[in-house]
Amino acid sequence: MALDRQLLQTIIGEFTVDAEQLREVAANFRQDLKLGLIDPKDSSLRMLKSYVGLPTGKETGEFLALDFGGTNVRVSRIKLEGAGRFEVIKKVGKPLIIPGEYDYIGAESTAEQMFDFLASLIDEAVDKDHETKFYLGHTFSFPSNQTNLYNAELIIWTKEFKTAGVEGKIVNDLLKTSLEKFGLTNVEPIAVINDTVAVLLSAAYQHPDTYIGSIYATGQNNCYVEASIHDPENAGVGGMILNLESGNFMKLTPNRLDVEYDEGSEKPGEQRLEKMVSGRYMGELFSMALSEIFEEKGKNYGFTAIDMSSILMDDTIDGDRIAAIVKDKADKNVDSEECAKIKQLAAAIVVRSARLVTAAYVGMIWHRTGTGKISRQHIAVDGSVYEKMPLVQENINRALSELLGEEAANVDTILDNGGSGLGAAIAAAMAVNHNA
Ligand code: BGC
Repeated sequence: MALDRQLLQTIIGEFTVDAEQLREVAANFRQDLKLGLIDPKDSSLRMLKSYVGLPTGKETGEFLALDFGGTNVRVSRIKLEGAGRFEVIKKVGKPLIIPGEYDYIGAESTAEQMFDFLASLIDEAVDKDHETKFYLGHTFSFPSNQTNLYNAELIIWTKEFKTAGVEGKIVNDLLKTSLEKFGLTNVEPIAVINDTVAVLLSAAYQHPDTYIGSIYATGQNNCYVEASIHDPENAGVGGMILNLESGNFMKLTPNRLDVEYDEGSEKPGEQRLEKMVSGRYMGELFSMALSEIFEEKGKNYGFTAIDMSSILMDDTIDGDRIAAIVKDKADKNVDSEECAKIKQLAAAIVVRSARLVTAAYVGMIWHRTGTGKISRQHIAVDGSVYEKMPLVQENINRALSELLGEEAANVDTILDNGGSGLGAAIAAAMAVNHNA
């Protein structure tokens, strides 16, 4: 069956964000920051306090870093050497789910099983050493309410995690209980941070002039340093980093497919921006669009962001690789012209994502700058979509220029690969210094 080309063109239009809409999203984001600082209840940004500011770059010592936020969990031992230098001494990692074997993120799994699994991985990272004292920094990449650097209470699972008994709990307390069970009383969790905060700490440790941290991967979220907040519990310098949980930003217009996806999702009405931009959802939107185009609306072909990336990377004249992916996932035969159209659809979804993410960056830059001129600065970004998805980086740059004009020359995005682990170690060092 041939695909419905007219519908495809319409859907591509629905995924297009023009210059005016882009500017409006950036302005709304800035406005929500302003409102959120006065009272987070009046903003769709959660403005979560992290109780940490920027590092000085002089932090030193060996720390354990737990990076927990996607389907893969990693634990590393990291030696901070000061002057922005560090060494990863050991790194272990495991997925939280192996279909058919185990699953710690489904609704059937419990908090205890999940945190025991984390403790067993920590045991591996310390080579079962139950004597040496280790301070642990924990990058926990979900919205959490904090009252200090240790105390983080999970507000709500995102990224379709469903494990029972974690929402509303202090995650480091759950971790401590499991560590004790494993005889790991020598491991002391001392700091919890969001992954955006970790990326910002890691980048700022190595590059001054970095004030915004961003994750652009399975999930999407941003944080920035708010210079006006001072708190005795705050470690570090320059103000306090706020985790915006900007995946929940609501002041933008979802299209027909966004609305349909949201209605059938685990948490309808939540995470509007994230559901329009992050890796976890782009494949779903692409699948939904294709099912309409193939006149099989409602059928889930299971395309992922990785499939979209392969489709966009196909440079064969006839789109052979695209045809193979479509055959594999949707069981449809498509000719070369149709392959080109399918590629355009993937591109539209990805370009929209990059433009909306950039609008949020610019909202933060405008807010931090106030009325002055935009200073020279980096935006630290980590995540597979930013790193590997074709079209993303060039469209971020294009949207920055569209919104900032000549001043865009002062802003660049830098990849902070592995920042989640390093940032956790830096946060642990900052907590030790603060408590000293
Ligand atoms: C979470 C954020 C996190 C982001 C990136 C979102 O789903 O709510 O806390 O920073 O994913 O991992």
